[in-house]
Amino acid sequence: MNDITLFEAIDTLRSMRHLKPDPVPEAALRRILEAAIKAPSGMNSQPWNFLVVRDPALRRRVGEVYRKGFLEVYGEGQPAARNLTPADERVRASATYLADHLGEAPVLLFVCLRHAYDQPPERRAYSSIFPAVQNILLAARGLGLGTTLTSLHKRHEGEIKELLGIPDHVETVALIPIGYPARGRFAPPPRRPVKEVAYGDRWGQDLW
Ligand SMILES: Cc1cc2nc3c(=O)[nH]c(=O)nc-3n(C[C@H](O)[C@H](O)[C@H](O)COP(=O)(O)O)c2cc1C
Repeated sequence: MNDITLFEAIDTLRSMRHLKPDPVPEAALRRILEAAIKAPSGMNSQPWNFLVVRDPALRRRVGEVYRKGFLEVYGEGQPAARNLTPADERVRASATYLADHLGEAPVLLFVCLRHAYDQPPERRAYSSIFPAVQNILLAARGLGLGTTLTSLHKRHEGEIKELLGIPDHVETVALIPIGYPARGRFAPPPRRPVKEVAYGDRWGQDLW
């Protein structure tokens, strides 16, 4: 595996939902988690924990829960699955594939947020988790591993927590399947150009 530059990784990071079942090397997993913990967090609180699920039976169960959540939102006939643009239709088709196969990914990585035991969940705390999530996606990309940031398991998070023995005050913020790509290539993702989304000095004014 040749090293790629930071900007090559950033520019070609996209969701890879078709993954091979081949195992992820231990060294790659360590490298990814080392990248995750380098992320910034409010007051360096590091409110994260990472749960790496590799056991096949557990992966299958997690996959079933995820699929249930997916179908409730994007299943045939659901409001979110109607009147889609061709581009949205493509994402939904690819996401449907992932929902049908999530448990076959060799690694299911939960990025968890520890809330304070005795206080209601703080919305601000989520901002201290997503930098670590992005580091995970980029580190995996750097190692030639495909990922998708997913969240639909959260509709049935109680089932996931019971299955994996996750304590009450810990929330599973993201579920990231990781594996070598089986289909599709790393490539620049479809995005609105900088010119459309960045302004100079005053809102709505051209930057360049
Ligand atoms: C907060 C968040 C939650 C997401 N949840 C899901 C999900 O549950 N399932 C899924 O297939 N993709 C999920 N995605 C991935 C997006 O669909 C994807 O990033 C987007 O379509 C852009 O495509 P790209 O990643 O290939 O550039 C999520 C992305 C984000 C940022």
